[in-house]
Amino acid sequence: MERFKIITFGCQMNEDDSNSIKSFLENLGMIEETDNKKADIIIINTCTVRQHAEDKALSLLGTLKKWKTKDKKIFFIGCAAERLQKDLKNKFKYVDYVIGARSYDKIYEILSREIKNTVVANIKTQGKKVDYETIIRGCNLKCSYCIVPSVRGEEKPKPFKEIIESVKNKALSGVKEIILLGQTVNSYRDFQEKKDFTDLLKEISRIEGIKIIRFLSPHPLFFNSKFFEEYKKNPKISRWIHLPLQSGSDKILKKMNRGYDFKKFKEITQELKKADPKTSITTDIIVGYTDETEKDFEDTINAVKEIRFSMAYCFKYSPRFKNKDPLTVTETELERRHSILLKEVKKIAKETMNEKIGSIEQVLLYDSRKGKTNTGYNCCIIDNNEEKKDFLKIKITEIKNNTLYGRAYD
Ligand code: SAH
Ligand code: SF4
Ligand code: F3S
Repeated sequence: MERFKIITFGCQMNEDDSNSIKSFLENLGMIEETDNKKADIIIINTCTVRQHAEDKALSLLGTLKKWKTKDKKIFFIGCAAERLQKDLKNKFKYVDYVIGARSYDKIYEILSREIKNTVVANIKTQGKKVDYETIIRGCNLKCSYCIVPSVRGEEKPKPFKEIIESVKNKALSGVKEIILLGQTVNSYRDFQEKKDFTDLLKEISRIEGIKIIRFLSPHPLFFNSKFFEEYKKNPKISRWIHLPLQSGSDKILKKMNRGYDFKKFKEITQELKKADPKTSITTDIIVGYTDETEKDFEDTINAVKEIRFSMAYCFKYSPRFKNKDPLTVTETELERRHSILLKEVKKIAKETMNEKIGSIEQVLLYDSRKGKTNTGYNCCIIDNNEEKKDFLKIKITEIKNNTLYGRAYD
């Protein structure tokens, strides 16, 4: 056992889990491999948020039948693994391990057992400028369309001190931008230490080396004035806020059990922009949820026009529970609504991007010429020679291929 390959589906949380598994295996002396033929272990980290995500993982698994031998091992892990469990073992007999998202810790134990012969190498990964930190696993809300709570379980916040320790270590290895992860990331609490999400932001911004703190995904229910005050005065908090709306119709929001109406959502976006007018807001939207009428759909289009999101991820509703919340529009209608929404979203995204021409942006540099603004846009620097700097103020002069271009500004 020397070489492993990890294939990851789904959200940033899965990416973060895959990164941890990767570091774990590298510390055991294993080498990451991209070619199936050379790999001894293949780990598929799966998602089940929509049927399509699950199908992609299953079809990949199907193609591994030919690859599989007695000495080669397949791990099918994560959210779809949690949902399918035994069914999967029956259908794909050649899978060695099915480990669901709720028993995530087991994977380390099993991997250690499988890889008993390799040398401990202690590789420290260097060079990453952006990294994730999962601060809450699971979710306590019950949005009616969503399978995440049933595959990831109840909310388990990571202890405050552990997060700080972990971010400090990441900063020491060169990380400049930290992305805090949780399904309702701003509901974070460490009851023992009496710390909340804003306390966490404050403490992380004191860590030397950390220049941008982002978080995914906040939920409208958990914003408060303490947060807005901190947001206003703390420039290390990213000015790119991803705030999922899901629908612009109050009837649908209620049916989805989201706990807010459009007015409340709008107020939060206004507070954010009041605290910093540069704030760029992105979102998630589902079209065609159960009982969505043409009027409800129009409410969503109007909401998009009103808020003017910098970008929105638009999903076609995919029922996840048998006999509950079925699809009530035809596939053609679902497709139609999705493409109308996408067109509107793209139009507004382009316009909001164009408004950046002439503005001055804080850019985290990935190398001397490329980086990302703290409002979430990719940015190329036309004239930068200061190789060593991590951050630059850039005056945006033009836009090409969805990327801002600009010159250093002092
Ligand atoms: N916890 C996050 C969302 C996690 S899932 C939040 O509440 O904001 C990521 C996105 O997938 C959701 O925001 C939603 O837009 C979409 N999604 C979830 N379940 C879905 C389903 N059954 N069909 C289509 N899209 C879905
Ligand atoms: Fe799913 Fe809602 Fe929890 Fe997000 S907040 S993970 S959409 S149940
Ligand atoms: Fe993420 Fe998909 Fe699981 S969105 S939490 S990997 S179901």
